[in-house]
Amino acid sequence: MILAGARPVVLVALIATPALAQRTTDEAARVAAVTATPAYFAAPEPFEALPAGAATRRGAADGRAFSMPSAHMGAERLLEFHLGDAVFGKLWVTAPSATRASDGLGPLFNARSCQTCHPGDGRGHPPADLSPAGSRLGMVLRLSVPASPDQIAAHLATIPGHRPTLPEPTYGSQLQDRAIAGLAPEGRLDITYQVFPVPLAGGEVAHLRRPTYRVGDPGQGPLAPDAMFSPRVAPQMIGLGLLEAVPDADIIARADPEDADGDGISGRAAMVWSVEVQAPALGRFGHKAGVASLREMVAAAFATDLGLSNPLFPDPAGDCTAAQIACRTAPSGEDPGLRDGREVDGATLDLVTFYTRNLAVPERRAPADPQILRGKAVFNSTGCTACHNPKFVTARLPDRPEQSFQLIWPYTDLLLHDMGPGLADHRPEGTASGREWRTAPLWGIGLTEVVTGRASYLHDGRARSLLEAVLWHGGEAQPARDRVVAMPPEDRAALIRFLESL
Ligand code: HEC
Ligand code: HEC
Repeated sequence: MILAGARPVVLVALIATPALAQRTTDEAARVAAVTATPAYFAAPEPFEALPAGAATRRGAADGRAFSMPSAHMGAERLLEFHLGDAVFGKLWVTAPSATRASDGLGPLFNARSCQTCHPGDGRGHPPADLSPAGSRLGMVLRLSVPASPDQIAAHLATIPGHRPTLPEPTYGSQLQDRAIAGLAPEGRLDITYQVFPVPLAGGEVAHLRRPTYRVGDPGQGPLAPDAMFSPRVAPQMIGLGLLEAVPDADIIARADPEDADGDGISGRAAMVWSVEVQAPALGRFGHKAGVASLREMVAAAFATDLGLSNPLFPDPAGDCTAAQIACRTAPSGEDPGLRDGREVDGATLDLVTFYTRNLAVPERRAPADPQILRGKAVFNSTGCTACHNPKFVTARLPDRPEQSFQLIWPYTDLLLHDMGPGLADHRPEGTASGREWRTAPLWGIGLTEVVTGRASYLHDGRARSLLEAVLWHGGEAQPARDRVVAMPPEDRAALIRFLESL
């Protein structure tokens, strides 16, 4: 992500999803009824087996489970999906190349394709969990340094509560561990883990691994002493268009920034600067909800992860800073007669955006199984739903039939929560603090290993099982986590089975 510098802009009213106003009183009442907490857990709720509504993918829970298009997509749009898929999987090359169709990679980059970090449209994993060992794919290290008081004041005038940071002066906003021939990579993300035991009621002992991050072999000298790091694995790609279609108002309605209801859970809406609409907007994408729309997220990935200029991020040198002179002067893939003069043109950006909007969520496995239903009841009574909100109904979006007016089950509120010191990265982003993270959507999480061949969870992949992921919860989620530690082993096992069925 390219971090914004100070912007002298006055506060613009939040741009609400246009379709919002279209809900009639009767419709609003129906939405409230279908999204209410169920009265009993002895049987699945209506439509529970279809987490993405009509867009849900039915069929085998295999390695392709996250790679299928929205189920009810028309033939013409299917073609667009497949074109987007091809760009998502394409390996970009250094400019200038003979064909010119796929050049412009770098000068600095983390991977040559989107797919490398989002394997099978699933999540990335920390390098230690991958073979061959030492491979860096699927994980990045965001960098920044604190902004000056003046810069902070300028930002606060634009977005209240915004905590701006600046790119690290030499290395920029992300550590790129690869570079085109002739240029040195910026360095390496080194991780060490320290394992410690967590005893659970009933005699079981879980072992968590606490990571420490360092930059190995920094190519242009040490990083700034006040540099802040945010390690992140690539999230799974399913259901993103449906999350984009949740009305702003329904997300904001669940926020409780001052914890007015006193339940210990606040939940804050992320307010971010949207490069796409040049105004503040509600953030939903990325581990700190730092980005408002999928198109902007995709454009930022092209710019920062692959080093490809595009209509939203037009700098062909991507994340190279002014201090990186060789990088700034390396040949670019831009050509005035080609691709709108960018390395990635608007049409290509739109195709990939369409693709990421339409990766379907697989159907639930065995939602009527008695142990899974018991786990669902435990999930509710333990307080998990305070953040992992089961249901939303998407807005009516005439130009996006696949996402329009669907009952969805993402198990997220799309809000920011203080998750305690254990998970903190101490690096603010937008309005998110160094302890806050966006509630991770849980749909499809049970298929992680089937899709990517590995299990690791949380923003930096430190948890090697779903139970470990829960045991890392702190801050606002500490009471829920403590209840999981204290509950009888059968309840804990049922809770995990429920998560595996999502
Ligand atoms: C080097 C690894 C890497 C590559 C390459 C990469 N991504 Fe990602 N992707 C990530 C990480 C890490 C995040 C989380 C970012 C954050 O927290 O802000 C992410 C997040 C996303 C998201 C938001 C998901 C969510 O749940 O909020 C989308 C969409 C996305 N990437 C699409 C793409 C596309 C399209 C490409 C290719 C143009 C791409 N990515 C290339 C690592 C990568
Ligand atoms: C206070 C809000 C909150 C509560 C309560 C909460 N969670 Fe979470 N959960 C989060 C956030 C935020 C994350 C992402 C944290 C991160 O990535 O570091 C998360 C992540 C997870 C993950 C990993 C997701 C992934 O994609 O890697 C699982 C599994 C999970 N939660 C399950 C639970 C269960 C089960 C409960 C109840 C015992 C629970 N959570 C209670 C906020 C909460």
